[in-house]
Formats: sequence, structure tokens, C-alpha cells
Amino acid sequence: MEDNQPAAWAAVGGSARPNLHGMLRYPAMMVPCMQGDIIDAILDEVGTGGSRVVDPFVGSGTIMTEALLRGLDFTGVDINPLAVLTCEAKAAIDAGANVERAAVTTIQALRSDIVETVDVDFPWLSKWFDEPAARCLSRLRRSILAVPDQPARKVMWTVFAETIRVSSNSRTSTYKLHMRPEGDRVDPERIVANFEGALRQTLQRVRDYQALIAGRPESDPDIRILCDDVRRADIGTKDDRHRILVTSPPYGDNQTTIPYGQFSYLAVRWIPAEDLKGSDTLRSNTFALDTASLGGSLKTAKANGERIVGISPTLDRLVASAHSAGKGRGLRKVSNFVADLFDAFAQVRATTPGAAHWVITTGNRTAHGMPVALDEICRDIMCYLGGKPVAGLRRRLPGKRMPTRNSMGSLINTETTLVVEFA
Ligand SMILES: C[S@@+](CC[C@H](N)C(=O)[O-])C[C@H]1O[C@@H](n2cnc3c(N)ncnc32)[C@H](O)[C@@H]1O
Repeated sequence: MEDNQPAAWAAVGGSARPNLHGMLRYPAMMVPCMQGDIIDAILDEVGTGGSRVVDPFVGSGTIMTEALLRGLDFTGVDINPLAVLTCEAKAAIDAGANVERAAVTTIQALRSDIVETVDVDFPWLSKWFDEPAARCLSRLRRSILAVPDQPARKVMWTVFAETIRVSSNSRTSTYKLHMRPEGDRVDPERIVANFEGALRQTLQRVRDYQALIAGRPESDPDIRILCDDVRRADIGTKDDRHRILVTSPPYGDNQTTIPYGQFSYLAVRWIPAEDLKGSDTLRSNTFALDTASLGGSLKTAKANGERIVGISPTLDRLVASAHSAGKGRGLRKVSNFVADLFDAFAQVRATTPGAAHWVITTGNRTAHGMPVALDEICRDIMCYLGGKPVAGLRRRLPGKRMPTRNSMGSLINTETTLVVEFA
């Protein structure tokens, strides 16, 4: 493990997320320049010919953007429809969607819209949005629907999603849905201004990105984005092109670590289903997506706890000491999650056999007072799947990128990046 890392890897704030990286705020985004540097180091070793980058937990597409900037083909998977929409929007920009025209169409439609209806309905709508805010968001929604080109429209939805995030009655300081105090409600008069501000920023980000890819050699990259559970997803071609996997999986089940589903719930209820991938069930209530994510269902806990034994010696030791400490039941969520994580990586490996480099960034935490060394557990899983760990980096997280405390654990203040080779 190395400690002397480039200062740029520790940068936080807007400058650390240039061009498309800053389009939509998503939990636990990776550090773009660090991951880009790692991709470059691997390309130096294997060459660019025939390389496809894969991220099976693609989130908002940090790795995707870094791959596309280098002109590499890309496959991404995520179970979260908002994450997938964001990646599709970024892919549309890469493919040259006319975002400026979509913006003009949206703003013109908005100026001429005098309808006062609320166009969506879902459980607890009136809890999360006051009526004037819901009317205003409905106007924005109708205006975006006036954009005929679906790829460009998806870019508009990412701006809308960001507007929803800051306009709802849920606090922006937490990823969970959590009511703001009465005195802290968003002024509905500000909603259109917020949208227009976010739109201006997105247009600038698109221009910055287009300038960067203008010098990109040869043909446009081939991009595949799947909205699926990676444990079942067919990541594709069983050829030797999937050589570079770069990813950051969840750190535990969503309920006790990061509730990506709750974070996305309001946006995916406002954005029309026709423009979203993923089944309707995932959007049916605030818990559906978190339950469907890795480690989310305790129905599997018993069977998962049994079949994961022997795959990770680190997990086996943790479970044994939890039993001795009378905490076995508390730790079953961890075994349940690790078994799901194992299934996910096993599926990725089965659908992308052949020589590969995998770069996996994880964080450690504690559960019921016991340290869960997810970095070591991932290393064990990689060895079990036939990989050879060749490098590791540990870095201290510079700011408060993660919720630092959760019901199960304490500080998540370091992350580990593991590089594994498959022959
Ligand atoms: C740490 S985040 C990835 C963030 C991403 N690296 C970025 O920079 O935006 C982990 C992702 O795993 C996804 N996820 C959780 N369970 C999944 C599953 N079973 N299949 C596919 N994706 C899943 C979550 O929706 C989340 O987007």
C-alpha cells in the first residue's frame, strides 16, 4: 500500500469534478482524476487495442466519462434507474446529441406554459412537495416533454432531477428522505431559477466536454448501459475485449450504508417511465430499490450465510469472532451482503472471461462494533475467482464524501483500491 499519492487525488469541490463529472450529484462518486490515472497506467501496460472498460456498479458514470475521454469502448451496469439515466445522458452527449437545441425548446415551452395542474401522483407526493412547488415542477416536466429527441431529453431530465433534489421538502444534507424543518422550505418562486441555473451549468459542462473529445482519434466509442441487477446481467460478449474493469461496489447493504434508492426515489417518480430504464417495481415505494440492491433482502440471509463460508477467510474469521462475542445475529447482514457481492463478481467474471485487469475501490467500516475489512474480503473474493492481486493503494478521504456515521457502523474515512490481474 502506498501513502505518497498525487495531491490532485485529494482535491474536493467543483474543480475535482470537471466537465460531465459534475452533472448530477450522486452519492459516493469516485475521484475522476485518480481513476483516470489508474486506467492510463493499465493502458500503458496492455495497450489500447481491443480495450473495453467495464463498470458493473456504474453509478453516475465517473469511470464511464474517464473511459470515453480516452476513446475507449464502455459497458456499465447499475440497478438504479436514475444512475442509468445519468449515464445515458452522458452517453448521448458523447454521441453529439443537440443539447443546446433541447435547452432552447425547453425554455420556450416553459415561457408559454400557463397551465396550473400537478401532472404526477405517487404516495406521499404532498408530503415531499407543497402544491405550488408541485405545480411549478409539473410546468418544467411538460416543457422537457416538448423536446422531441429522446437522448437530448434525457440530458434535460438530469437537470430536472437536480432541481427536484433541491426543491423537495426532504433535506439535502442526507441521502435518506428526511423532512426539512418548516422554516427551511424552498420558495417555489426559486424553482425555475434553480432549474435555469443548473441548465446553464450543464450546457457549459457539455461544451467543456465537447472541446476535450474534439481531438479524440478515430471512431466514436461503443457504449452499452444496462439497468439490471449485476448478479443476473449479461455483461456481454464472451470475447477478450472486456479487459479493464474499474469499479466501486457498495460498502454494505443500502439500508445501513448509503440508501441510493431513497436518494433517487423522488426523481424517478417525477421523470416519465418512458424515459427511464428498469422495472416499475423498483420505483413502487421508497424502499423497493434499496431492498433489491446487494444485501438488501434478509430473506436470503440464512442461505447466503451458509454458502459464503470458505470463500473469504477474512469473512470467516469475522463471523467466528462475532459468534464468540455473541454478535453472530448482528453480523448476518454483513455475510448476506458479501454473498451477494460474491455473486455479482462471479457473474461479471463468467460473462467477461479471459485476460483482464480489475481495479476495485472499497471502504472499510464497523458493524456492531466489529471492523469489517471489505478491502480484504474483496481481495479474498478475487483470489477465489482466480485473480492475482498485483497492487493496492490506500487513501484517506479528504472531505465528508460519505455519511460518516450510520446505524451499523462508524467512520468511513479511508478507501482502498485493489488492482487484480486475471490471466
Ligand atoms: C459506490 S456506488 C458507485 C458510484 C460510482 N462509482 C460513481 O462514481 O458514481 C455503487 C452502485 O452500486 C449500485 N448497485 C447496488 N446493488 C446493485 C446490483 N445488485 N446491481 C447493480 N448495481 C447495484 C448502486 O445503485 C450504486 O449506484
